[in-house]
Amino acid sequence: MKTLTIKGITYLLITAAGLTICLNFYACKPSQKVASKTGVQLWAENCQRCHNTPSPTTFSHEQWETIGLHMQSRALLTDDEREKIIAFLQQ
Ligand code: HEC
Repeated sequence: MKTLTIKGITYLLITAAGLTICLNFYACKPSQKVASKTGVQLWAENCQRCHNTPSPTTFSHEQWETIGLHMQSRALLTDDEREKIIAFLQQ
């Protein structure tokens, strides 16, 4: 039986590493379904899990910006999701 050479092992490792990186990128990319959600959908799905959600008119545009950043970390939202929700709340 032919044993693996150093060169063979190196090629194998590089291929495995490349594959792992590609799979990770693929897994971290939000699905088309999630990415196409509107601000109001994301707001309805995320912002009343922990508390009643105040109406958009309760806070000023500036206050919603700050609340958005604060609640992004609580609700584990992406930047894109936060921007859509805040844009909806500021309408
Ligand atoms: C994981 C739980 C959780 C989620 C999800 C969450 N919040 Fe909150 N929210 C809190 C907690 C806890 C507080 C109380 C303040 C603090 O400790 O951060 C709060 C406070 C607030 C306040 C201040 C209320 C007031 O009267 O002062 C607003 C406004 C708010 N959240 C909006 C939102 C919006 C908008 C979303 C969706 C993006 C959201 N929250 C998602 C937990 C959550």
